[in-house]
Amino acid sequence: MKEIPRICFAHLPTYIEFLPRISAYLGGARIYIKRDDQTGLAFGGNKTRKLEYLVADAQANNAKTLITAGAIQSNHCRQTAAAAAKFGFECILVLTGQDLKSKMSQEPLVRGNQLSDPNILPPSGNLLLDYLFGAQIVWTTPDQRENALQDAYTKAEKQSKRPYLIPYGGSNPIGAMGYVTAMQELTQQLKSNTALAYPHWIVFPSSSGGTQAGLTLGARLFGYRGKVLGISVDEPQTVLKERVAQLANMSAKFVEEKRTFTVDEILVNDHYLGGGYGVMGKPEQEAIQLFGKYEGIILDPVYTGRAAAGLIDLVRTGFFSSDEVILFWHTGGSSAIFAHRYESELFSSGR
Ligand SMILES: Cc1ncc(COP(=O)(O)O)c(C=O)c1O
Repeated sequence: MKEIPRICFAHLPTYIEFLPRISAYLGGARIYIKRDDQTGLAFGGNKTRKLEYLVADAQANNAKTLITAGAIQSNHCRQTAAAAAKFGFECILVLTGQDLKSKMSQEPLVRGNQLSDPNILPPSGNLLLDYLFGAQIVWTTPDQRENALQDAYTKAEKQSKRPYLIPYGGSNPIGAMGYVTAMQELTQQLKSNTALAYPHWIVFPSSSGGTQAGLTLGARLFGYRGKVLGISVDEPQTVLKERVAQLANMSAKFVEEKRTFTVDEILVNDHYLGGGYGVMGKPEQEAIQLFGKYEGIILDPVYTGRAAAGLIDLVRTGFFSSDEVILFWHTGGSSAIFAHRYESELFSSGR
């Protein structure tokens, strides 16, 4: 495999742990977890691995500003802002949502010990961290997102900020390298630690597809013999399979490996889309509560909560048999649990 420039700053290899209590509670397959929620950059997560390659490329291109886009509670944006701070870039985030902070600065939030307007809350969760890391935030709406990103890029160029555009979720062949080498890391761990049971399945949340494309290509290159199953967070199976296959093919070319992937070789389950992107329903609530209560592990409401809800259902319904070993790849995102919206919904009986 062709070597791609990388700056190593993630805390790697991430640990693999057996989850005895949740496995026993569910009474089916043996469940292990790979702790990419502990990759070390600003509460960790899957984007750290991608950013090792993206930041190296930004530096090689002499960029001064990292620019990317996402939802208001985007983990990708939080990690990009942290990487920008760490490596001395400016950071512009194009976020879909509402500008709560400037409303805050127009009128004091707290008068005496009363909220001046109970409908306006200070930034929380990932958004709070974006501000902490000094990111400049451009607000947009879902239908204007592409234009807003393009405008922000053009404006930054005109201002000689030398912007480097990171795609949604850091998912291009450069970012996907993070998960090609993550699969290399896993196969080495499995070889060197005989106490680890060999996983028949790897299960994780999949959305912009970079994680799954990287793992899929890595599995082929480094000889992982199990199955790589993405639980879709927001897309129908057909769309996500196509996206992952395309990116895996582009990534193979990028590292000069003659490997090709058809859509049928990409495993995606889209049965757990619930109320749509970012909506925490009963299954996500239950998954977050179970992982918390039985293992002391924090899942997030958007990605890992949904993927774990899928995993739990697949164990309960016997899709995974009791003699199988499952590796749940924790991709991070736990800081979103502290967003006002999710904090107040986690134990609510709605939905
Ligand atoms: C915590 C978390 N898990 C999983 C994903 C999905 O990864 P990918 O976009 O590479 O499919 C994301 C994407 O933002 C994420 O933040």
